[in-house]
Amino acid sequence: MAEKIKVLVSEKDVDARIEELGKKISEDYAGKQVHLICILKGSVFFMCELAKRITVPVSMDFMSVSSYGDGTKSSGIVKIAKDLDETLEGKDVIIVEDIIDSGRTLYYLMDVLQQRKPNSMRLCTLLDKPERRVVDVKVDYIGFNIPDEFVVGYGLDYAQKYRNLPYIGVVEGVE
Ligand code: IMP
Ligand code: MG
Repeated sequence: MAEKIKVLVSEKDVDARIEELGKKISEDYAGKQVHLICILKGSVFFMCELAKRITVPVSMDFMSVSSYGDGTKSSGIVKIAKDLDETLEGKDVIIVEDIIDSGRTLYYLMDVLQQRKPNSMRLCTLLDKPERRVVDVKVDYIGFNIPDEFVVGYGLDYAQKYRNLPYIGVVEGVE
């Protein structure tokens, strides 16, 4: 059955904002190399677009975490399904996320990754739903603050669908 999708952030607006974030990161990391960590699968589209707009040297790694369940809410129990290939020691790391909701996934992940002794670690998210926060995570770069609605597109899925939409949309009829 096909759900109805309403556009929340247009492709043009997403692209423009990513351009700004890339510029800001390039300025903040002038003279350094940034190590981007993509949290699969949702952050893939965002990270690729962001990486293309960063002008300092970039390296990239990928990890996959699942917070149990395939529904619309995170359970708070996080499992590393695919770990990073490289070490973080001495690197200036930016974790790239698609969306921060309760904050549980990132709270757990940042704790785990901090133990690998990066030189620095920051967090960049395309979307933030601040109203939904349950645990406190410090976010350094935010694309858009959005209301408490379930969104898809630009990497985000609803039951694995809609990741390929080039804009951010709201699925109508999902709580
Ligand atoms: P948190 O641990 O509650 O912050 O959950 C973050 C994860 O939940 C995200 O990385 C997404 O995979 C998923 N998620 C939260 N809100 C949405 C949404 O509106 N659309 C799609 N996925 C979402
Ligand atoms: Mg995610």
